[in-house]
Amino acid sequence: MIHLANRIQLVSESITLAVSAKANAMKKAGIDVVGFGAGEPDFDTPAFIKDAAKLALDKGQTKYTPTPCLPDLKAAIAKKFNDENNLPYKPENITTGAGGKHCLYMAFMAVLNPGDEVILLSPYWVSYPEQVKLAGGVNKIVQGEQRNGFKITPQQLADAITPKTKVLVLNSPSNPAGHAYTPAELKALADVVVKHPNLIVFSDEIYEKLVYDGLQFVSFATLHPQLFDQTLTFNCHSKTFAMTGWRVGYVGGPKPVIDAINKLQSQMTSHITSFTQMPAVVALTDPRGKESVDAMRAEFEKRGRHMHQRLADLPNVTCVKPQGAFYCFPNVSAYFGRTVGTTQITDAVSFSAALLESHHVAVVPGNDSGFDTHVRLSFATSMQQIDKGLDRLADFLKKL
Ligand SMILES: Cc1ncc(COP(=O)(O)O)c(C=O)c1O
Repeated sequence: MIHLANRIQLVSESITLAVSAKANAMKKAGIDVVGFGAGEPDFDTPAFIKDAAKLALDKGQTKYTPTPCLPDLKAAIAKKFNDENNLPYKPENITTGAGGKHCLYMAFMAVLNPGDEVILLSPYWVSYPEQVKLAGGVNKIVQGEQRNGFKITPQQLADAITPKTKVLVLNSPSNPAGHAYTPAELKALADVVVKHPNLIVFSDEIYEKLVYDGLQFVSFATLHPQLFDQTLTFNCHSKTFAMTGWRVGYVGGPKPVIDAINKLQSQMTSHITSFTQMPAVVALTDPRGKESVDAMRAEFEKRGRHMHQRLADLPNVTCVKPQGAFYCFPNVSAYFGRTVGTTQITDAVSFSAALLESHHVAVVPGNDSGFDTHVRLSFATSMQQIDKGLDRLADFLKKL
């Protein structure tokens, strides 16, 4: 009889997994499912980055590297932060991890003691609360309101900070709602943060390049001189360069935290895969990297505007216009209480299950993001699929 560790009980089973597993099974069975579940660009990794990986393999870059990563990659990341984000990190302030997710997990492990509070703003990315629990922390959720575009007010933040608060997690542009704070809105939050010099900010900036309507992206740590030493800035190649499967993430921050993360990593995974490291440098330094992300951003903006308009036209559906990332997050709660076949729709999970079952459209319920009234639709899919899926959604709602 195998007894599992208590910590496994801490991690919630993902309720959204059931819906995506069902969608996959239906696809395998030959059913024409329209998938709005994707959390990754539908674009391929640009050819010049793939070529750099082939070269790395041919050159024999297949052995261990130093724990943070190769010096070339650390230098390229530091230069990116300096040039693009106005963040004066030096190579010693940088480390990498197996995707943004792994960087965040290692950082929580590096700074949290049992009982430390972490402020999350809802709707939030599904992995934050689980990672916090695994690292011994306690989640404090500050509720974003749809009428404020899901953005919290400085007062809400001030009210949530207690002597036990250790970390504030910011994610702008955001998964799952696509909302993004303007520089002025972020500055107003920064003014609250600087009153608490022991508070550490985790600024998850992985969607920085995917912003719309001319929104200006600013890195949180630039908003006040004090914040540079109070903030960890997270980024990755996953969304920017359509490299989700490569698992290249990175973090910039004060050296003691970066050293602590490296200590953990040296005993966990050692370092990220050796032959992804030079391609990761090339992605950051070759001008074609910028060209490819610009083209992807322009396409996402078109699709996002179109999807949002179609959602806003649906009766009794309300949806904040996404300012970044590649998600729309409509409120479908007006339809709760209706029945499809034998299924009663009571929340976003049952709504998503019924939509998939009867109209073969896969969406992600917002429950794991703290909103059981909303569903997430990714527009990282073709315009044709967007129209097909939204025609089906409109028909589903009509029949409810
Ligand atoms: C807000 C947010 N942070 C971090 C991640 C993790 O990214 P990665 O795939 O690089 O681990 C994701 C992935 O979906 C995300 O949406």
